[in-house]
Amino acid sequence: MEIKRENWGSRLGFVLAAAGSAVGLGNIWRFPYLTGENGGSAFILIYLVFVILIGISVMIAEFSLGRSTGLAAVGAIKTYSHRFTFVGAMGVISAFLIMGFYPVVGGWALAYILESVTGLYALSPEAIGDTFGNFITGATQPLIWMLVFLALNILIVAKGIKGGIEKAAKVLMPTLFILLIFISIRSLTLEGAGEGLSFLFRPDFSLVTGQTFLAALGQAFFSLSLGMGAMITYGSYLSKKETLPGNAVIVTVLDVGVALLAGIAMFPALFAFGMTPDQGPGLVFVVIPGVFAEMGGLGVLFGTIFFIALSVAALTSSISLMEVVVSYLIDQRDMQRKKAVYGTGVVMAIMSILASLSMGVFGPLPVLNVGVFDLFDILSDKVFLGLGGMFIAIVTGWVVNKETLRKELTNDGNKSFALFEVWHFLIKWIIPPAIFIVAIFGIIDIEETAVMLLGIAIVALLAIFSKKLH
Ligand code: PHE
Repeated sequence: MEIKRENWGSRLGFVLAAAGSAVGLGNIWRFPYLTGENGGSAFILIYLVFVILIGISVMIAEFSLGRSTGLAAVGAIKTYSHRFTFVGAMGVISAFLIMGFYPVVGGWALAYILESVTGLYALSPEAIGDTFGNFITGATQPLIWMLVFLALNILIVAKGIKGGIEKAAKVLMPTLFILLIFISIRSLTLEGAGEGLSFLFRPDFSLVTGQTFLAALGQAFFSLSLGMGAMITYGSYLSKKETLPGNAVIVTVLDVGVALLAGIAMFPALFAFGMTPDQGPGLVFVVIPGVFAEMGGLGVLFGTIFFIALSVAALTSSISLMEVVVSYLIDQRDMQRKKAVYGTGVVMAIMSILASLSMGVFGPLPVLNVGVFDLFDILSDKVFLGLGGMFIAIVTGWVVNKETLRKELTNDGNKSFALFEVWHFLIKWIIPPAIFIVAIFGIIDIEETAVMLLGIAIVALLAIFSKKLH
C-alpha cells in the first residue's frame, strides 16, 4: 500500500527540524554538566571522536532507513527485517523513557522565563543556587510547569509535523545561537575566567574510566537524537531530492557547535564565581543566571530571551520524541493522529510527574537505588540509545541490500557520495563492535549496576520475543 506522505515545506525546513530535534536540553543542559562531572576536556575529546566515527554514520543510516521506506521507525525496520522488529519497539520505549524526564527539565526552563523577570538576577550566585534547589524539590510548582511544557508538545504534535515544528524552529534556533555567543563573551571577560577555558581545552586523562566512555557515547546519541528512530521518522518525511549525507553533516556540525558554545558560555563563569564543576543537573540554571546578574539591566532582557529560546529548543526536541510514538500508532496501528497524541501525552505526563517528584518528595527506589528521574535517564541514555544505535547499524550494514543503500544515498546515482564505501564499512564492521565494547566496559565500571542489568534484561526479552511484536 502506497501512502502519500507529508513532506517538509522546504530544504531549510528539514534541516531546521532535524537540527531542532538534535539541539535541545541535551546540548545546553546536559552536555555542560556531564562535562563538569567527567573532568572536562578529556570527556569532550572522547565525545567528539564518537560523534565523528559513530554519530554521523548512524545518522546517515537512520535517514536512509526512513526515506527509503517512507515509514517511521518501527515500520521502516520491519520492512527490512521482521527479526529486528524489536529495534523499532526499543525506539518507542526510548521515546517514553526520555519523555519521562525531559518535560520536567523543559518545565524548569519555562519557569525560569518568569524567574528572569521577577528578580532572579538581583541575587548573589549563592542565592541563585538556593533558589534552584528549592524550586525543583517542591511538590507543585515544577509539576505545573512540566504540564505546561507537555501541553505545548501535545498542541504542536496534534497539528502535524509541518505547521508547528518548522515555524517555531526557524526563528528561535538562530536566536539561541546568537544569545549563546553573547553570553560566552560576557562569561569570558569575567575576572578569573581563564581557568574555565583550560578546564574545557586542556585534557586530563587521569580522570577517564570505562564510565567516561559510556557517558560520552550516551551523550553523543542523546544529543544527536540517534538510536531510537527519531531521525528515521524525520527522514521518512524527507523529499527524494535531498542529499542525505550532506544533511547529516550539517545537523551534526550545528549540534556539536551549540554544545561547545554552551560549554564556553558556562565554564569560564563557573570558575570566575568560585564554584566547582560538578554542579550536576542544576548547572545551566545556576551559572547562566549568575552571568546575567553581572550584566545589570541588560541581564533581565537577555535572561528572559535566553530561557524562552531554551524552552523552544527543548520543545523542538521533545516533539520529535513524541512523534516517534505517534507515527508508530498512526502507521502501524491505524490510529488517528489526535487520539494517538492524547493517549501518548497522558502516559508521558504520569511518568514525568513521578520523575519530578523524585527530585525532592520521593527518595530513591528500593533495590535500584536511584530516583525515578535518574532511572529514566540512565535507562534511555546508557542502555537503550547505544544498543538501539548498535542494532540500527547492524540492520543497515547486514540486512539492507548494499545497492539499495547506494541508490538511496546518491539519489539513484544523481548525486555523488564519495565516501559511500567508507561509510558502509564503518556501519557494518566498526560501529557494532565498538558500541558493544564501550557498553561492556561501562557496565563493569558503573555504580548503577542494577539499573543497567534491568535495561539489558528488557532489551533481551524484546529481542527474544521480537517475532511476536507487530
Ligand atoms: N537531541 C535532543 C536533545 O539534545 C534529545 C533527543 C534525544 C531528541 C533522542 C530526540 C531523540 O535535547
